[in-house]
Amino acid sequence: MRWIDTLEAAAAEKLPEAVHRYFRQGSAGGVSVGEAVAAWSAYRFRPRVLNDVSSIDLSTTVLGTPVDAPILVAPSTMQRMADPDGEIAMARGVLAAKSVLGVSSNAGTRFAEFGAAGVPWWLQIYILRNRTITERMLDAAVEGGARAIVLTVDTPVVGRKEDDGQTVWELSQPGQFLANLPEGDWSDDDLDKADDLSPDSIGWLAERTGLPVVVKGVLRGDDAKRCADAGAAGVIVSNHGGRQLDGSIPTARALPEVAEALVGTGTEVYVDGGIRRGEHVLTALALGARAVFVGRPALWALTVDSSAGVTRLLTDLAEELDHTLCLVGHPTPGSLTPDLIVPS
Ligand SMILES: Cc1cc2nc3c(=O)[nH]c(=O)nc-3n(C[C@H](O)[C@H](O)[C@H](O)COP(=O)(O)O)c2cc1C
Repeated sequence: MRWIDTLEAAAAEKLPEAVHRYFRQGSAGGVSVGEAVAAWSAYRFRPRVLNDVSSIDLSTTVLGTPVDAPILVAPSTMQRMADPDGEIAMARGVLAAKSVLGVSSNAGTRFAEFGAAGVPWWLQIYILRNRTITERMLDAAVEGGARAIVLTVDTPVVGRKEDDGQTVWELSQPGQFLANLPEGDWSDDDLDKADDLSPDSIGWLAERTGLPVVVKGVLRGDDAKRCADAGAAGVIVSNHGGRQLDGSIPTARALPEVAEALVGTGTEVYVDGGIRRGEHVLTALALGARAVFVGRPALWALTVDSSAGVTRLLTDLAEELDHTLCLVGHPTPGSLTPDLIVPS
């Protein structure tokens, strides 16, 4: 059995039930979370032969940052429930694998600490109703050395979770997930996510921070094009790991349309959701992604073996990608083409 496949069960042994459930769950009836992995496995390869694959090179750049492999860590909250050092342990693991860390705006670690840790990191932001709070968080992220702003756009309201029993919120302290909330007497209304975003939000973020903006949660080609036209440096094809609109299309199926819409724009395409194997990574790259993000596997790895677990997860997936590239007859991710992939 692959070590990666043992992780969730091993993490479940260590975590309180409510935390394990929070990490693994989807929204509503769980349709999208349940379909994500199978949608990647449903593709088949049309491999090339008689190509020299004696030297495989996985390295690439993401928004100009060099990485050892096109496998990055998605932003997720509540990492202090997985490991006492939370996001900093995750950051150390990512740094050792020479990858990039997505940091949730609901992290339990101050943004300045990521800069100090030396990890390349992108801030994921929810624009809040109270824009002053958002602006102060953005300023702190810039000061902490964030290299990009990831705007999550699939959350005008938090997707309904159908919990029975204790929830993660009852178990946690605000400091474990709101470490970057500026001081102030904020009401619940201030902290609600904004539901009036538009393509102008992209320019607003870019202007405020001077950083490239990546839009997370795009599932349609026409929306991807609106993001590019508004100046987005990248989009992440994502349905939030099935935690927002239940029944939203698997990212494996949305990716080709988004990639096609962005050809020639210079906007980089990323994807997350259900990526668990090197074969899935290769499929995503061939269908037009520059890199993929992994969410839950990184949380399980962090729970099981802290930063060493995160590094092993990323390097194991990279080894599988290397092996699969060799078998499809391509020495580099950049040389992959969509005709390598067909639906099964
Ligand atoms: C426990 C948990 C917390 C998450 N928190 C955030 C968040 O704060 N912001 C965000 O944009 N996405 C968040 N996500 C979504 C991830 O960034 C990512 O889209 C998703 O996990 C990818 O799917 P995967 O888990 O199947 O790899 C969260 C996901 C999980 C599992």
